[in-house]
Amino acid sequence: MAIPESFLDELVARTDIVELVGGYVRLIKRSGSNMFGLCPFHSEKTPSFSVSSDKQIYHCFGCQKGGGAINFVMEIENLEFRDAVEFLAKRAGMTMPDEGAPDEFLHKRRRMLELNRDAARYFHETLLSPSGESARKYLAKRGISQKMVTRFGLGAAPDAWSGLLDAMSGYTKQELIDAGLARRGKKEGGAYDMFRNRLIFPVIDVRGGVIGFSGRALGDNEPKYLNSPDTLVFNKSRNLFALNIAKKSKSGMLILAEGNIDVVALHQAGFDCAVAALGTALTEDQVRLMARYTESAVIAFDADEAGKKAALRAIGLFEKTKLGVKVLDFGEAKDPDEFLQKSGADAFSLLLERSENHIEYRLMTIKNNADLGSDEGRLKYIYAATELLSELASEPEREIYGAQVAKTAGISPESVENEVKKMRKTKRARQRKQYEKRVTRPAAAMQPADRSLRYENEYSAAAEEGVIRCLMRDLELLRICEDMNFGSEEFTSPLLAKVYEVLSMRESRGREPTEGLILSGFPANEASQLTVILQKPEATPHSEKSIRDYIEKIRAEKYKSDAPDEKLLLAIKKYREMKDVGG
Ligand code: CTP
Ligand code: MN
Repeated sequence: MAIPESFLDELVARTDIVELVGGYVRLIKRSGSNMFGLCPFHSEKTPSFSVSSDKQIYHCFGCQKGGGAINFVMEIENLEFRDAVEFLAKRAGMTMPDEGAPDEFLHKRRRMLELNRDAARYFHETLLSPSGESARKYLAKRGISQKMVTRFGLGAAPDAWSGLLDAMSGYTKQELIDAGLARRGKKEGGAYDMFRNRLIFPVIDVRGGVIGFSGRALGDNEPKYLNSPDTLVFNKSRNLFALNIAKKSKSGMLILAEGNIDVVALHQAGFDCAVAALGTALTEDQVRLMARYTESAVIAFDADEAGKKAALRAIGLFEKTKLGVKVLDFGEAKDPDEFLQKSGADAFSLLLERSENHIEYRLMTIKNNADLGSDEGRLKYIYAATELLSELASEPEREIYGAQVAKTAGISPESVENEVKKMRKTKRARQRKQYEKRVTRPAAAMQPADRSLRYENEYSAAAEEGVIRCLMRDLELLRICEDMNFGSEEFTSPLLAKVYEVLSMRESRGREPTEGLILSGFPANEASQLTVILQKPEATPHSEKSIRDYIEKIRAEKYKSDAPDEKLLLAIKKYREMKDVGG
């Protein structure tokens, strides 16, 4: 059932978007009425996320996301429209118009967190009980102390089909299934435990909620790790194992390992800043999450090929943020855990101090992949290394690493330098070309990147946007549109046609065209595109004349695109003549 428009109007009126966004993003005033901050939706080092208190909308000049208060909550809290409205209603002290049902979502979340907490307690108790013997043995074998068992709340899933199901008598089977703790069995109404005969690591978010579990096999059986699926409270790609502990570390860094065992071993050795991803490749969300707690990341992945590849990928993600990043090389050891077992904590500290920054690491990777014995291999090495060097913005850096590359390749530093210069020149030329294309074809630049939102006729785009901007400012101008017999079918952008219809409808009901609210009626990509349009300045204050001009322009472009293009015809003629002359 739809939420009444009047309710939404009031909700948006009572919500100050600056205050709302300010709860997630540190906003600073830069100029005019807009506030700026670091965009919560993409990684960046300088603020390009703006919030307009006049228009009550937000817009990121970097990733182009935008919308009103409801869009913001949907995006950042990952909620559906209705739940976002409820979220804001709670905040504004308003009761949802339709009693009963709406609370369900929050209620379900709360229940699931309680269930997870009870399950964690059950697993922990099981570890200490007779049925936890094999897990205890495994911990002993890996040298994990009782102190760590307590600190991480480690547990054991018994080797049984319904250990947890039986213990969680206060919850329904369905609730366990929804929480990813049980699976539906073949038998009608049946279910069985998801985690069996595994060492259990509860995953706890930074607010202390038990949001999911990782279960490690107690031997070589596969899969090595079984993780909770994504649920109402768990999102694998937005959380990190042990961040709840590591965020309190005084070390000023976060060490990112691969396995949970590595994390626990690191903490046990005194490195209380270790975290791990939850069984997926590192994501941008996770990197941003780390950036909230530290400025320096240390990658401590396994020494195998997969680990090295993952490290290179991770470096790329870290580079998009303000985070400094280093990579550890364990030499002979296969991972942090083995290194600690063999060499001890002091050696690990030394490793941290001496660890290479990512440029050195990448040069080393290039070197290791090259066959420096052959001329061809050396050329390949030089090409790949200079390519990397040419990306470095700092000249001293280019010089220092250039000298290293020269030495490795057995050529003079000057030749490396020349090669890098050449490469930088080519790159600059390419960039300039792209820039020129944007400047010389402004009409093409009007097209949104999202293909589904494109204008049929890019030449009328600016005018179409203008009509909408004028109407948003003053809905009375619809009279002029009506006078001119203008209709939504004249837009070549289907999205703007829709907006025009929404605006007409609101006008007929005597409602204000609140930007922040109108945007919330559209899916995220459309709302973002609309925000871009609304953010553009309107040149003339004479809106009546502006809107007339815009409508005329739209019609003129339509006429032109229907008529054969004279310029094109001329060009074709010229081309023919040229060909004739040339033979
Ligand atoms: N992994 C996973 N789920 C987790 C944690 C890790 O699926 N919650 C996966 C990683 O993606 C990686 C592998 O497990 O592929 C890394 O684990 P590894 O370091 O091998 O795990 P450890 O428990 O440290 O095992 P080992 O003792 O063999 O090092
Ligand atoms: Mn490991």
